[in-house]
Amino acid sequence: MPEPVLVVRNLNIWYAGRHVVKNVSFEVPDRSVFALMGPSGSGKSTILRAINRLLDLYEEAEVQGEVLLDGVNVYGPGVDAPWVRRRVGMVFQYPNPFPHMSIYDNVAIGPRLNRLVKSKRELDELVRWALERAYLWDEVKDRLHQPAAKLSGGQKQRLSIARALALKPRLLLMDEPTANLDPVATEKIEELILDLKKDIPILLVTHDPQQAARVSDYTGFLYYGELVEVGPTGKIFTEPENPLTERYLLRSLGSPRARPVD
Ligand SMILES: Nc1ncnc2c1ncn2[C@@H]1O[C@H](COP(=O)(O)OP(=O)(O)OP(=O)(O)O)[C@@H](O)[C@H]1O
Ligand SMILES: [Mg+2]
Repeated sequence: MPEPVLVVRNLNIWYAGRHVVKNVSFEVPDRSVFALMGPSGSGKSTILRAINRLLDLYEEAEVQGEVLLDGVNVYGPGVDAPWVRRRVGMVFQYPNPFPHMSIYDNVAIGPRLNRLVKSKRELDELVRWALERAYLWDEVKDRLHQPAAKLSGGQKQRLSIARALALKPRLLLMDEPTANLDPVATEKIEELILDLKKDIPILLVTHDPQQAARVSDYTGFLYYGELVEVGPTGKIFTEPENPLTERYLLRSLGSPRARPVD
């Protein structure tokens, strides 16, 4: 078995002394989607922010444990946070392109700042590749220099994905990327997730178990800081071992699940 791209081991996080993530361990293998689900306030976003070291920016936060990216502990000595943030892309619940900046520049800014390209032509190619990969190119190719603010919500979210992809990250974190989108825009993002995972593994936070069931290979159920259940998505949805998982699924899915007859 190849080494998983991401290994989280005994992760503990405190905000101002309050223990909000408790000894969490899980792995995200290459070519897979891992869905992290759980009620509001259970620590999902906090775990994502620990993985790409965004939590360094929160003075009140303390992190212990290991986050291994291709075997390298991102909290190890000599590892700097900007390097981690380049290797680990992040897409948020609210699409966050710079509204006054053009569509082109929103994608180009990362590669420019990080000096990833040597010429305008190379940059043009990278921008086009990222927009194509994010299923947006055809819709914007004739207006690359218009402000991003003019795009629809779903397009803005795909632009955020293109912006993350332009840095060629090793892992993509998505924090409820469809929470503010209509069903059609949501379906498009879910299709995109299934396509992207062939090249880049995805850790997806979702409130919606049905979304986890549709797109993920593995699911973890986080309950107030504890990862009470983790495993292949099919198993979690058909035979959860923890009663908390079962209760959450029953409530969220709104109807009794079919039970095997014994
Ligand atoms: N900067 C902060 N300072 C103090 N406490 C915080 C901070 N950010 C989050 N918390 C607390 O940490 C816990 C976990 O929050 P987090 O945002 O990770 O949950 P979540 O699972 O992402 O919730 P949601 O589904 O609502 O987005 C919550 O109790 C929250 O109130
Ligand atoms: Mg959150």
